Amino acid sequence: MNKRKKYIFGNWKSNKDSVEVREWFKTFTSFYKQAKNLLTPDLEIVIFPSFTYLPLANTLIKEYQVPLKLGSQDISPFGKGAWTGEVAADQLSEWVNYVIIGHSERRNNFHEKDSLLQKKVEEALRGNLIPVYCIQDENTHIPSGVTIVAYEPVWAIGTGKTDSPENAGSVANSVKRNKNIKIVIYGGSVKPDNIDGFLQDKNIDGVLPGGASLDAKVFWELIKHVAGV
Ligand code: PGA
Repeated sequence: MNKRKKYIFGNWKSNKDSVEVREWFKTFTSFYKQAKNLLTPDLEIVIFPSFTYLPLANTLIKEYQVPLKLGSQDISPFGKGAWTGEVAADQLSEWVNYVIIGHSERRNNFHEKDSLLQKKVEEALRGNLIPVYCIQDENTHIPSGVTIVAYEPVWAIGTGKTDSPENAGSVANSVKRNKNIKIVIYGGSVKPDNIDGFLQDKNIDGVLPGGASLDAKVFWELIKHVAGV
């Protein structure tokens, strides 16, 4: 029987400059080299740097030969064209496989609404990118075509407080059953000392750490937990 696929998505938010990106990869690679067999194909490890560092991250992934994929933290709701400041699906697809859509920091600080998020999902799918759609609870609207949902209770993001694995598992279960979503991950203050509870729930397929993904050593610790070591 195939092992269930597990996902670990590191959301770097607006952190790191090019020197720090290089350092992160150097450190990550030093851990990876000591335990290459940990990163099996049933582990999907994706980092989400700022737009500006996607090409650099892509170069470093190739240079260090680390099995990481890239995602972007946002996407334009429009295609290529006269949309100042936006980054379109066709531009992103050169670099990334995944895109986070509807993160609460964007909903709250940039007033992104369901209708806009719907267009972003459509653009992502048109560009063959996989949307990682963030929801606050089981009642958040999920646009059609979404296959991966990140359950992220707002009060748990960057606060050090996590939801209980039981409640997160029950939200994941509800979303899977009622909204026909295949993959649900949990985000909100995930750390090496609390990750196991979430991973043990059969409806939670992985995690979306923010703060804990910034330090390559801590991120590697999280990967070890996801790999069951
Ligand atoms: P956090 O962020 O792990 O720092 O709480 C999670 C997220 O916002 O994706």
